[in-house]
Amino acid sequence: MQWSEKYRPASYFEIKGQDLAVRKIKEFISEFNLSKITKKRIKKAIILHGPPGTGKTTLAHVTAKETNSEIFELNASDLRNREKLREILKPAIEQQSLTKKSKIILIDEVDGISATDRGGLLELLGLIEKTQYPVIITANDIWDKKFNVLRKKSEIIQLKEVEYRIIKDILINILKKENLFIPHDILTSISIKAKGDIRAAINDLHAIAHSEKNELSPELFDERNKEIDIFNALRLIFKNKPTKETLEIFDSVNMPLDKIILWIEENIPAEYQGEELAKAINALTKADLFKGRIYKQQYWRFLVYENIFLSYGISAAKKQPRTGFTSYKKPTRILKIWMYNQRNAKKKSIAQKYAEYVHVSYKRAMREFPIIKQIIKSNQEIERELKLDKDEIEYLHKPIEIKN
Ligand SMILES: Nc1ncnc2c1ncn2[C@@H]1O[C@H](COP(=O)(O)OP(=O)(O)OP(=O)(O)O)[C@@H](O)[C@H]1O
Ligand SMILES: [Mg+2]
Repeated sequence: MQWSEKYRPASYFEIKGQDLAVRKIKEFISEFNLSKITKKRIKKAIILHGPPGTGKTTLAHVTAKETNSEIFELNASDLRNREKLREILKPAIEQQSLTKKSKIILIDEVDGISATDRGGLLELLGLIEKTQYPVIITANDIWDKKFNVLRKKSEIIQLKEVEYRIIKDILINILKKENLFIPHDILTSISIKAKGDIRAAINDLHAIAHSEKNELSPELFDERNKEIDIFNALRLIFKNKPTKETLEIFDSVNMPLDKIILWIEENIPAEYQGEELAKAINALTKADLFKGRIYKQQYWRFLVYENIFLSYGISAAKKQPRTGFTSYKKPTRILKIWMYNQRNAKKKSIAQKYAEYVHVSYKRAMREFPIIKQIIKSNQEIERELKLDKDEIEYLHKPIEIKN
């Protein structure tokens, strides 16, 4: 059993680093219960949002346990089918009758609802109107405009990235229970590397605790975190047999996954032929498919799948590991298109901000962009007013250059 599951908190007390969220959800539940007597109108849903592995799903389940409620869990895809949903929910929204046990309705990972899925969201809003039971919703990102109404109808609680010292304490506790010892500097490294994600830290701890003793030196652990360049990453992927480490190769490459795709695409034919080539192209296509879904649905969790196909998938296309040197090429043509699109995206976002600020249409801002660009550039005050980010400012000031 995964340690992150084995050590999932079972009480409010065991949830670390989220004191404010715990207090708020307690208040929410008691107000909910009170409103049944006072008939005061209150918000009947609460959204727990924040980065992965910080305790959102856990907090929902713990709340059910602590209030001795049954948990009624729905996911984004359940919301898609109205009929089915009504069927499922009937007992949940009917007046509490024979069974004394109260219920909590959990909609886990609501950001899995796709942009086109208006029906599912409407159904959820309807549910919040009718429900006799508190609704807990979790999400990584709740600021998309499709959630505007949902946000208005709900209490909102943010769960924060957890500080590394707290994560380290959690790890030490687990090791005590497992009767294991791992040096403190390694625990510190794991905790920092996790960047607030407790699940990631526990998973790393689990992996390291089960690896050979000689892999435990802190130097080695640091070695793993060092940046490697894209050429080395390609060599590791194409030449070696896939292992667990293969999955993490791109973590150490300072380049977005979207761009890494281009490098892989360009160099597959240099390494693979025949059946291997077909397999590699297949993995590449799947990575690209997830990339599309990430953009369309803003479902960042799919990055994991994109990464798996690009690293493990491409590596596993070969029958035998190989030796020898291959000179990998820069993906020139498609990289140009990619860079152009990136730049164009900046132009669009600047035009959007400008249009909103001066109340003209976005179309017009795009049409008159050359002039607008000069206006913005002429005065730093305007850059600030428009809240341009670093990349957008860079776009404005950098001459257009497309290098090979
Ligand atoms: N605040 C916390 N205190 C103690 N352990 C935690 C905490 N948050 C997360 N964990 C650990 O991480 C695991 C995953 O947490 P959880 O499923 O609640 O994350 P989440 O916030 O719902 O993440 P996601 O956004 O990926 O769904 C838990 O099983 C538990 O082991
Ligand atoms: Mg979760």
